[in-house]
Amino acid sequence: MRKRMIAGNWKMNKTYGEGVELAQGLADELKDGTGDVDVVVCPPAVDLKGVAEVIEQTQAPFGLGAQNVYYEESGAYTGETAPNMLEAVGADYCIIGHSERRGYFGETDEDVNKKAKVLMAHGIVPISCCGESLEVREAGKHVEFVVDQIKKDTEGLEITDPSKYVIAYEPIWAIGTGKTATADDAQEVIGAIRATLVEIFGKETADGIRILYGGSAKPNNVAGFLEKEDVDGALVGGASLKADSFAAMVKAAM
Ligand code: 13P
Repeated sequence: MRKRMIAGNWKMNKTYGEGVELAQGLADELKDGTGDVDVVVCPPAVDLKGVAEVIEQTQAPFGLGAQNVYYEESGAYTGETAPNMLEAVGADYCIIGHSERRGYFGETDEDVNKKAKVLMAHGIVPISCCGESLEVREAGKHVEFVVDQIKKDTEGLEITDPSKYVIAYEPIWAIGTGKTATADDAQEVIGAIRATLVEIFGKETADGIRILYGGSAKPNNVAGFLEKEDVDGALVGGASLKADSFAAMVKAAM
């Protein structure tokens, strides 16, 4: 069955030295292992190498993820990071389509789809984000909106190993606001995502794809989400910035 996943998105926090320190703290907190839970940290791009070194030196039980990638292989794309650059510093995962990238930087479903394809071609696991705004939720159109995102974001993907494609449902109104969706809210949308994946990829593949919840997930509420049938883990922002709180969430998932 699906292995749970707890992933930390550090967003634009932690300088190189601070990132190394946080990774060391987390390696220490998790030194007894993470049981059956896949743990991932996603530092800013310039911290990736430093965190990779900590993982290697301490044999830390967590994987490394980036927060973004560009879909071209190389060339005149000032400021962007190519997939083989992520591969070369040891990134196993990459977040794509985060609502902050969609909202502030104009990332579209078409971009997200291209990024997923290029990452998969490089053996990097996409953590593909979706989620509705407050306006869409208040209009009662959240399920329809997210299902449409999923259809566009997964168009033409060939998923041979479903453990290597991850989705994160992050309702925008719950990100960094302290307003969490309830576990039932998360299950409603995540269940609809799973049903959409069944339509697209068939049941066997859909049953193997992890779908995470994100949005003010904390040590004291994560267990409630994980009890739900289709919720396979959490994508954590604020609470991933301290080793003890992030480790507590991993332990709650074990
Ligand atoms: P918070 O956990 O800070 O609400 O952030 C969620 C998120 O956006 C993770 O990608």
